[in-house]
Amino acid sequence: MKLQCVECGVTYPTSEIVVRCMCGGLLDVVHDLATLRQTVSASQFDERLTIRSGPLASGVWRFAELIFPDALSCVVSAAEGNTNLYASPRLAQWVGAEGLFLKHEGENPTGSFKDRGMTVGMTHARAVGARAVVCASTGNTASSLASYAARGGLPALVLMPAGGVAAGKLSQTVAYGARTIEVRGDFDQAMRLIREVAVSENIYVLNSINPFRLEGQKSIAFDLLQQLNWEAPDWIVLPGGNLGNTAAFGKALREAVDLGLIRRSPRLAVIQAEGANPFYRAFRQEFQHFQPVIAKTVASAIKIGNPVNYPKAVRSIVQTNGIVEQVTDQEIMDAKAQVDAAGIGCEPASAASVAGVRKLIATGQINRGDRVVAILTGHLLKDPVTTMEYHQGKLSDVVPTYPNHSTVIEGTLDQVRSIVRTLLVS
Ligand code: F0G
Repeated sequence: MKLQCVECGVTYPTSEIVVRCMCGGLLDVVHDLATLRQTVSASQFDERLTIRSGPLASGVWRFAELIFPDALSCVVSAAEGNTNLYASPRLAQWVGAEGLFLKHEGENPTGSFKDRGMTVGMTHARAVGARAVVCASTGNTASSLASYAARGGLPALVLMPAGGVAAGKLSQTVAYGARTIEVRGDFDQAMRLIREVAVSENIYVLNSINPFRLEGQKSIAFDLLQQLNWEAPDWIVLPGGNLGNTAAFGKALREAVDLGLIRRSPRLAVIQAEGANPFYRAFRQEFQHFQPVIAKTVASAIKIGNPVNYPKAVRSIVQTNGIVEQVTDQEIMDAKAQVDAAGIGCEPASAASVAGVRKLIATGQINRGDRVVAILTGHLLKDPVTTMEYHQGKLSDVVPTYPNHSTVIEGTLDQVRSIVRTLLVS
């Protein structure tokens, strides 16, 4: 295993703290696939499904050989992954996709997919003797980092956009004990500051610019392929913000095909919010040109205008014959209301993937009969304020198409009785 620059090809040992190449390029973890082809198999990963404790019970570390071999004795883990793959006839009908599955990454220990990357990044941070860990975040990375730093015994610092982080995430981060800084600016500014301070202070960055984070996030793809008995779906659809998952999924699928775990690769569809859509814009120009934007969307998790993983994400789309689509805040919040009312629930950014599938079916880019896995990236409880504001009609530029009202009463038996009766006739 080594690190390799995706731009210039220079390699680095994994025993060093290095997050970017000297040339400025992003780094990949490169595994010895020739050896792995001889030593790993789908059935070996399947046998591990019966393990109920220790690192191999984690839905990340079950695939350790493909992620971070030889780390099993020192992992900082909380049994990540193993998240549900839901089929919901009600939602499938609304979306128009008969073969729709929802992979719920909000079921991870801190409520988002970030834990999958964080367990691997934190394990590497400790292995290389990091003194402190830092990140910029729209909230989920911060809460995950705060939790894993506490478990791993490292001081943690997070930079977040002031006023731009959902209540669940900010409170988690503070509660887990990270040094929490709210920057008067947006996520992209916080990210710039972290990159500069990391170099000048030689501290360990746990944003998705960190290649070990992305190795962990590959396990979302492995986990869902395993749940489908290693029969690849036609599409995997995911929200795109900093484009870490897009980068990780492309690498995971490439490796899964290369190692013979699946016969063909699913296509990736990355969905961006219309007001935070630099990847979509670049896709429309066949990736000839990339222009950051000033981001604006109700889905604060993906309110990102200058995604750090852009070059790797382009590679993922090209390799999987993928597509990039955009959806409005209205479409995001209506899709969220439908996911929530199906009893599954997710945070706004996650619903972009469901809104995206619906749009891609309507425009004929995804066929109704295709098998589609939409990734739900975060838990419903991450952003309770936006949920309530939707149902109360308080979100600007979003009309509550599927409102549910809470009613306040004085508490007489007659009132409750008449409400019960309306329930019984509906
Ligand atoms: N969904 C949720 C719930 C997220 O928190 C994020 C990113 C994304 C989607 C986008 O994923 O960056 O891999 O394209 N959240 C980061 C954070 C930026 O700081 O928590 P991506």
